Amino acid sequence: MPEKRFTGQVAIVTGAARGIGEAIATRFVAEGAKVLLVDLLRDVADTATRLGQKSLVCDVVARGAGETIAQAALAAFGRIDILVNNAGIGGSKRLADSDDALIERLIDTNLSAVLRVTREISPHLPRPGGRIVNVSSTFGLAGYPGTTAYAVAKAGVAQFTRQLAGELGPDGIRVNAVAPGVIQTPMTIAHRENPFYMRVVVEPIPLERMGEPADVAGPVAFLASDDAAFVTGVVLPVDGGYLAARHGKL
Ligand code: NAI
Repeated sequence: MPEKRFTGQVAIVTGAARGIGEAIATRFVAEGAKVLLVDLLRDVADTATRLGQKSLVCDVVARGAGETIAQAALAAFGRIDILVNNAGIGGSKRLADSDDALIERLIDTNLSAVLRVTREISPHLPRPGGRIVNVSSTFGLAGYPGTTAYAVAKAGVAQFTRQLAGELGPDGIRVNAVAPGVIQTPMTIAHRENPFYMRVVVEPIPLERMGEPADVAGPVAFLASDDAAFVTGVVLPVDGGYLAARHGKL
């Protein structure tokens, strides 16, 4: 059982029905937080019940979603200390094969919704003391062909993190991000059948394994905790060393 760094605090985690978001919510609960789990999927209610927490079925892309989420968290728990923008979708293609609807869907869900939701929830965070953690991707930090609109959105999330750290730092709100590499979740399950993906993205990982959702939850909890009290504007790769040293093994 980890040290309880979040006793008495309230966290919102988007995309928390399953995968990385579920693991982040689980970690916060283990460390004493109360959590509002938000997701498009109705299964989020079961995930929240399992954790003894509250849930909200909500599409983060919908206009006003951030205010709806904030009001649900305030009604359930009376305060909001931490926002984790984790909800996201894959399904990206190379640019030549991306129609307008795909580009719009990927940018809107993975980037624009993060800006809007954060703009609406951040006024409810304590000043000083609020914390925001965004979920970017290694695909947003280095080029990888065939994932263009997704990668551009995740690069935007990384830059948004730096921008907002500057804007909210004077209010005592810290803003950081994680950039996961290959994590085994429903989003990536089909990729394992793709030999190009396995050869280019999985085999070069220096730690010689894919990540688990809990591998991301620990760094998110660190960035949200007082252990990172002087850390803001950082995009932390959580990728088994892939970005640092992916160019082959001796
Ligand atoms: P997942 O597909 O297992 O979980 C994503 C969750 O977000 C789902 O429960 C989904 O219903 C929810 N969601 C999607 N669109 C939503 C919307 N408009 N409103 C509310 N909820 C919505 O995926 P996974 O792997 O857990 O991904 C979580 C985050 O991590 C995403 O932002 C993803 O881009 C990012 N990521 C994942 C990596 C991986 O290898 N799995 C690598 C790098 C980043």
